Amino acid sequence: MVVVNLLTSAGYRATHHHIKTGDVDIYRIDYPRNLPEEAKEVLLDSLMPVAASAFRQQETDLFRKDVQEHIFGFSGLFVVVNEEGVPVAFRVWEFIELNFVAGTDILYLAGMCVHEAWQRQGIGTLLLQCILREDHRRSLPDAHSFGPLPLAPYVAMRTQSPLVKWNFDQSIKRESYPLIEEEGIPVDIARVGQIVTRHLGDTSFETQTMISRECYGRCLYGVAPTSPDEGYNKAFNKLNVDDGDTMICVWRRPEH
Ligand SMILES: CC(C)(COP(=O)(O)OP(=O)(O)OC[C@H]1O[C@@H](n2cnc3c(N)ncnc32)[C@H](O)[C@@H]1OP(=O)(O)O)[C@@H](O)C(=O)NCCC(=O)NCCS
Repeated sequence: MVVVNLLTSAGYRATHHHIKTGDVDIYRIDYPRNLPEEAKEVLLDSLMPVAASAFRQQETDLFRKDVQEHIFGFSGLFVVVNEEGVPVAFRVWEFIELNFVAGTDILYLAGMCVHEAWQRQGIGTLLLQCILREDHRRSLPDAHSFGPLPLAPYVAMRTQSPLVKWNFDQSIKRESYPLIEEEGIPVDIARVGQIVTRHLGDTSFETQTMISRECYGRCLYGVAPTSPDEGYNKAFNKLNVDDGDTMICVWRRPEH
């Protein structure tokens, strides 16, 4: 309950949702880096077991630093709590290249963790739906004066896991780039990959494969995940995950 009390007293209100085996609440926290230092520590402490379980990692200092950088390094955070008020999942995201006139906005999914005991209950999909529904009016301080703005035409993420791409593709009911069976990346998708990796400070992005080389410096997973689809697993075999390679996955929304 500690984290729920903290979020409630800071003025955050949760939305209530049904999942396969019960109910959860989702808190949306904008600019989590602006929380008071003490609140940040409480939040990080409460999310560490979720991340450690999801990535099958020990709660080492190095791993804690990784999680801390993810949680407070981006502008949006969703935290899912169970009926006891204990965090069971979170997702980090932000917009890159906000330029709705040029239609170049990218919604970047910076990271997602669902505690192992809470996986396969629809939480990952629910979190994605929450984020995909976001419009720019809630992210720009005075954007309401523009009236309704279009949703970001591109959604991107960086991952070492074929399961994450599989899960994403299942949720959007389409295949994100890079396509598993087809070679070749459209020019606009390669450009999104370049913008995302530049934004993240990656220095070795391959436009033909959408692989960002050695950006993490190591494998983030204690046990390397696999997807139920052999094609996805094979595509991710091109990554040297132990060196920290990642795949940049990009979905162009169908209306664009
Ligand atoms: C990837 C992850 C976030 C998915 O979250 P989740 O809440 O379990 O996903 P959902 O319940 O919404 O799954 C939706 C669909 O994706 C597919 N899927 C998800 N996890 C799967 C798994 N382990 N095996 C096979 N299919 C899976 C299924 O089709 C599933 O639908 P179904 O359960 O009705 O068959 C979760 O497994 C996780 O936290 N993994 C470890 C951390 C991680 O890799 N984070 C991403 C870093 S970039």
